[in-house]
Amino acid sequence: MTKGMISVERIAGALGAVLSGIDLAEPLGDNAIGEIRHALLEHQVIFFHDQHLTPEQHLAFGRRFGELQIHEFVEGSPLDPRIIEVRKEPQDTRNFGGGWHTDVSYLERPALGSVLYAHEVPSHGGDTMFASQYLAYETLSDGMKAMLDGMTAVHSARRPYGPDAGRRYGNGGSSAMKYLLSEAALAEVEHPVVRTHVETGRKSLYVNRTFTVRFKDMTEEESAPLLDYLCDHAVRPEFTCRFRWRKNSIAFWDNRCVQHNAVNDYHGERRLMHRVTIEGERPV
Ligand code: SIN
Repeated sequence: MTKGMISVERIAGALGAVLSGIDLAEPLGDNAIGEIRHALLEHQVIFFHDQHLTPEQHLAFGRRFGELQIHEFVEGSPLDPRIIEVRKEPQDTRNFGGGWHTDVSYLERPALGSVLYAHEVPSHGGDTMFASQYLAYETLSDGMKAMLDGMTAVHSARRPYGPDAGRRYGNGGSSAMKYLLSEAALAEVEHPVVRTHVETGRKSLYVNRTFTVRFKDMTEEESAPLLDYLCDHAVRPEFTCRFRWRKNSIAFWDNRCVQHNAVNDYHGERRLMHRVTIEGERPV
């Protein structure tokens, strides 16, 4: 489908579309940015191929959608602290972003979106999966929706970035990325279990296995059965799409209504991506 100057091709029933006919390295006018924003809201994650961006152009593109965050627990690129080098080397076993999550949901103002740019990709594998959290919510029973609508969840960065995380994962699994494990990752924030997207008005499920630790006023043990159910339900295959990267591809996802998972199936090869993360609003 062509709308304005950009062509849009959906890649799955649930979410995801490839946009073509636009060069993101060019300074983009408000109309072009409006079309991209519209596509993001409609498809939840959008992709571009054959883009040739300098780090400055990557940052500038992200800035058109909001302020860029500096990750508290991952050392930023020497090029610019707002760029995370998502890197896995041939000897590494652990990857960054492996496991379903929404970015930085442990912050009071989690990310609006992330723009990931492929610098080096493995010969095969290393895809990223995305899951629509609108569908995750809409497919629940009315009774479950009514219960969840009034509930609050507690999110924390402690599992991946707390002082104990090194013992569990070891940086041995990842020579390539520097994680800044810290007591600060023990902090907890509360978000509604069902959030309403400020731009589309649609409701989505807002819990994830990486950062949601329990429901408010419940223990972790009490929370676990329902949280497990929701985290499994949220990523059912029919809610997902899967993106096959090429060098110079870009994925731009809306963290307010999408979870993602970097598939770790390319041991022995290098994968290098640059991510910029756009600040969002407090979930409601
Ligand atoms: C991430 O979670 O930002 C990483 C995604 C990826 O590398 O595919």
